Amino acid sequence: MKPSITRRDFVRMGAGAVAAGAAVTSALLEPSTLLAQAPATSSSGRKIRFVSIGTGIRGCDLLRSARKVATGECVGTADLYTMHQQAGREAWGADIPTTRDYRSLLDRKDVDAVIVAVADFQHRRVVVDCLDAGKDVYCEKPMSHNVADGLAMVAAVEKNKRIFQAGSQRVSNMVYKKAAEIFKSGRLGEVHLIEGHSDRNSPSGAWVYPVAPDASPETIDWTTWIRDAPSRPFDAMRFFRWRCFADYGEGVAGDLYVHLLSGIHCISGMNAIPSRAYSTGSLTHFNDGRDYPDMLATLYDYPGVTVNVHCNQNNSAGEPIIFYGREATMVINGNTLTVTPQDTAPQPEGYSLNGWTAAAKKQYLDAWHADHPAAQARPGQAETFSAPQGYDDTADHIANFFHAIETREHVVEDEVFGNNTAIACHMANHSYLHRNAVSWDASSQTIKV
Ligand SMILES: NC(=O)c1ccc[n+]([C@@H]2O[C@H](COP(=O)([O-])OP(=O)(O)OC[C@H]3O[C@@H](n4cnc5c(N)ncnc54)[C@H](O)[C@@H]3O)[C@@H](O)[C@H]2O)c1
Repeated sequence: MKPSITRRDFVRMGAGAVAAGAAVTSALLEPSTLLAQAPATSSSGRKIRFVSIGTGIRGCDLLRSARKVATGECVGTADLYTMHQQAGREAWGADIPTTRDYRSLLDRKDVDAVIVAVADFQHRRVVVDCLDAGKDVYCEKPMSHNVADGLAMVAAVEKNKRIFQAGSQRVSNMVYKKAAEIFKSGRLGEVHLIEGHSDRNSPSGAWVYPVAPDASPETIDWTTWIRDAPSRPFDAMRFFRWRCFADYGEGVAGDLYVHLLSGIHCISGMNAIPSRAYSTGSLTHFNDGRDYPDMLATLYDYPGVTVNVHCNQNNSAGEPIIFYGREATMVINGNTLTVTPQDTAPQPEGYSLNGWTAAAKKQYLDAWHADHPAAQARPGQAETFSAPQGYDDTADHIANFFHAIETREHVVEDEVFGNNTAIACHMANHSYLHRNAVSWDASSQTIKV
């Protein structure tokens, strides 16, 4: 992939860079986000009134992040599990109304928007109901449980002309925005390989979540929870560990790849479904009856770029995304990005001269240096950019959603973006399951083996 501008010049971006000559210069990114600039209320003077459907692990985290966004106000929640209803109230910090029946929230005329954080297989029904009720929607990643669900959700957004934000918060992360700026500047040179790694090397990382002691058919509305999946008797383990099962989740691809791929799509501007994917992997360590592998590696074909993602069972590397440019390498890990220039100055051949005689070698090198009088190595200076301590990209992502509702401007991660990334995750699983490369067939909108 050729970035839009190609230039070699060192371009210093961001404030706070330290002394030239040091091996690495570091800059703390300035908050320049909607969240940092948010006025006490929206420009109309009215807060966005939203409800949350699904106040489990992520729903509670979203409410905690939403509290930092002054332009919105939570006015109700829905959940099928009694303890999660109470946890949602605690997360928002007020005694807001809560119900098991989310449709009663959608009937409310005073509600502008909905944050949806139900399990992946439940996204389609809940999101389509919200859109049909005229609400703007923030839906957690991965947007869809399968290709058909994603296409139905895209159609519902278009039919109802609503704002839709998919919930891969890294797309709003200030470090990713800086990375996109650097990528677009051409400073990396041509980039033909991008890697992204996740890792999980603990029971919690592998979703072996504890079953809460109060879980029972009385405290959980299991009939409603399971209605879009094959019927089965109450099973608290499946309620808490739904990510492990193909009826409800998409394994490491839907849980982890989606973050890597969203980051890669937004930084590179390649907002597209990959043309081909090939996965390999194994289920070894967490072989507890789950449907998905615990180690997965996938190669994707994008136009001019190979993307290599994997989920490892070794936690030492963090979750880096690495852009290998011909002129620089850019690594994003957590809330820090590092750009390290390549030395692209012309060099005389070295290795292959090992088989030459001393006289032939001298003749070659003399001629080479005569042809390149100014050539000398240019050791590059690495630069890092970091977000401030405690930075919360989810709050920024929600702020972007509220801003779009107020202004009717575009969100950073719309339904097409969310759907493209989710389909890439589905392709990874299809390939693993079929032990074959798969391709995306745009004309039939299906994954072909
Ligand atoms: N963006 C991120 O970093 C991130 C992190 C974790 C999870 N997620 C995503 O968030 C979503 C939720 O994951 P989780 O870990 O919070 O799951 P969870 O099981 O802890 O919570 C989901 C909640 O949704 C409720 N629910 C399901 N159907 C409902 C319905 N019809 N009406 C009302 N409530 C309903 C359940 O009762 C449950 O409490 C998933 O899509 C997941 O992939 C995103």
